[in-house]
This record gives sequence, C-alpha cells and structure tokens, in this order.
Amino acid sequence: MAMSSALTDLYRYPIVQAPMAGGASCPQLAATVSEAGGLGFLAAGYKTPEAMYEEIKQLRGLTGRHFGVNLFMPQPANADAAAVGAYRARLTGEAAWYETPLGDPDAGSDDAYDAKLAVLLDNPVPVVSFTFGCPTRAVLDAFAKAGTRTIVTVTSPVEAQTAQWAGADAVCVQGVEAGGHQGTYSNDPAVDGMGAGLGLLSLITLVREYVQVPIIAAGGIMRGSQIAAALAAGAVAAQMGTAFLVCPESGANALHKQAMTDPLFGRTELTRAFSGRPARGLVNRFMREHGPHAPAAYPQLHHMTSGLRKAAAKAGDPQGMALWAGQGHRLARELPAARLVEMLAVELDAARAELGLQVQRGAVS
Ligand SMILES: Cc1cc2nc3c(=O)[nH]c(=O)nc-3n(C[C@H](O)[C@H](O)[C@H](O)COP(=O)(O)O)c2cc1C
Repeated sequence: MAMSSALTDLYRYPIVQAPMAGGASCPQLAATVSEAGGLGFLAAGYKTPEAMYEEIKQLRGLTGRHFGVNLFMPQPANADAAAVGAYRARLTGEAAWYETPLGDPDAGSDDAYDAKLAVLLDNPVPVVSFTFGCPTRAVLDAFAKAGTRTIVTVTSPVEAQTAQWAGADAVCVQGVEAGGHQGTYSNDPAVDGMGAGLGLLSLITLVREYVQVPIIAAGGIMRGSQIAAALAAGAVAAQMGTAFLVCPESGANALHKQAMTDPLFGRTELTRAFSGRPARGLVNRFMREHGPHAPAAYPQLHHMTSGLRKAAAKAGDPQGMALWAGQGHRLARELPAARLVEMLAVELDAARAELGLQVQRGAVS
C-alpha cells in the first residue's frame, strides 16, 4: 500500500518509542532509539513551546535521523466546577501531608497548542503525532505542505475514520492495555466508560476494516513476538512506552522505573485520580483512595495534583505518584535503549520465522 511505504522510510525496524510526557521521552532516549533503527519521539505535552523547541534542538544535536514530536489537542472547557470543587476538598488532607498547596485547576486547557503548531510549522520535524483529539484538515494539510508526516492517536474505528477524513498520514491505534492516558477524542464517562476500551488485537482488526491509512499499534507490547502479532493483525509498526520507560536513557523518575517490576505494585488500572482523564498506572494508595471519586475534568485535575505528585516524588513516596504503566509492565527489561531495540528486532525476526515454519508444517501435514 502506498501510504504504508510513506512510513517505512522513517525507520529500519517497525519499532516506535512512544512519546511520554512527564520527562521519560527525553532527547537522549529518542536519539538513541532513532540511531538504533527505531523511531524516537519527544513529548511536547505539558511543556512550553520554548522548552519543546529546546528539546528538538538538543535531539538534532544528537542524531541526524528521523524522529517525531507529540502534541496534546486543546480540551473543551466543559468540566463541572462543583465536581472539581468537591474533589479539591477531598485532597486537602493530601496537601497537608505533602506540605504542598493544590494547584490552580484553571491554569489552562489548550497546552499552548497554537504556539506549538507555529514552532513546528516554522521548523518542520519529520513526524508530528497528536493525542486527545483530531486536528483540523487545515492543520494536517499545513504539515503535509511542510513535509511533516502526521499521526493521530485513536481508540475506536470511528475516531480512526475521522482521522483519515481529516487527512492524517497514519493512525496510532491505542488498545486499552496501554500505559498512560487513553487518547480518546472525548472525556465523557457516558461514552468512554472506564474499562470500555478495546484490547489491541481486536482494535487493530476492527480499525483495519474501517480505514486504509497505515496503523501503528500501541498498548502492552513488550516483546518482539507481540510486535509480530500486531503486524500480522494489520499494523505497520508497534509503539511502545512502558518498555522504553525503564531504559537508563529515559528521564522517568527512578522510583517510577523501579515500581514497574516491584512485586508491591502487582497490577494496573485506568484512573482519573491524577488528571481527570482515564490513564493506566500501577495501582497505589492515591489511586485507590481517590480514583473512584475523581470527576471527568481534564486538565483541571492534572493542574490540581501536579504539585502533590512532585512532592511525593521528592519525598521518595511512590504511593502518591502517578506511576503510568501498561499491562505488560512486569515484562520490562532494564536495558540500554539501543540494546532493547536490537533485542526486539531479533525477537520479531524469530517470531516471524517461527510463524513461517508453522505455516509450512501445516501445509505439508
Ligand atoms: C509514562 C507515559 C507517558 C505517556 N505520555 C504520552 C504522551 O505524552 N502522548 C501520547 O500520545 N501518549 C503518551 N503515552 C501513551 C503512549 O503513547 C502509548 O500509547 C503507550 O505507552 C502504549 O502502551 P505501553 O505503555 O503498554 O507500551 C504515555 C505512556 C506512558 C507509559
């Protein structure tokens, strides 16, 4: 398919290192992955346009290879003020415990989208991806003119169709297994009820029926055999966050990295506790106590809890941090990023060869 080849020139191996806002996907990690033959990504979410541009310059200083930059779509200002107020009242004990004031929930909901677009159109990068919604056709066209490939994160066939109609070059299909935020276009409990998301293999297969643009698969992928499964289902590449988060080059907090394979944190759940939008993380005290009471109010809750999370990290207390992780977190390998890319590529080859052999055996028996 012509569109697929429009992506395969971006990497040697079909391995995309997920953008991870909050510090994990720093220039060092992205550059190492791109140098190793994958596609590295920077996360512009929560950063100022200036800080985003600085990271791009740093990355360009580290590698001449392709890379991507990820943007958060602006969010509608439709949060229920009374529900936000009630959640704020709930968190006063946390503020006292961590000796940190709660943040201003109204500190902005557009993540400086327009200013970031302007920087990226003035200084084009190879790839720009979007989450939490779909850009307008005009924005996607402007990137196409600038020579930048665009990817929109989707969690349903309808979202994928919207992205294709708007002119995206590819969709990143995100299964419910994925670590971090679900990239749903809306944040409505009635539409995107917690746990209503589809598992990755079902979702790839469904989306494949609806759209022709290339699919990048994300969610719970930790081994080359899973990349092979995603490719067999119709994806052109796999995007992995949790697997790269534990690499030494990742800028994630050391406590976050350790928690991934700590038996104390046995499982993950989707929660609105930290940000007001469903996101998957290791179940800890904060999530258990507050998750069931958190309203759908993003990014209001993100702003409100930001100081608490930083204070918890500073105090060395993972029970108060947002420990974003995908369902495969126990399979995380603390390897240098280049070694991880190599290992995934070898595992992918082995899985493909094994599948081929099985097909042959089936054919002769
Ligand atoms: C710590 C963390 C932060 C993330 N931040 C972003 C982000 O800024 N933008 C984005 O599009 N996706 C983000 N994601 C989601 C990833 O793009 C991807 O969908 C997810 O990592 C795939 O699931 P996995 O973690 O099981 O590999 C984040 C994931 C994690 C684990």
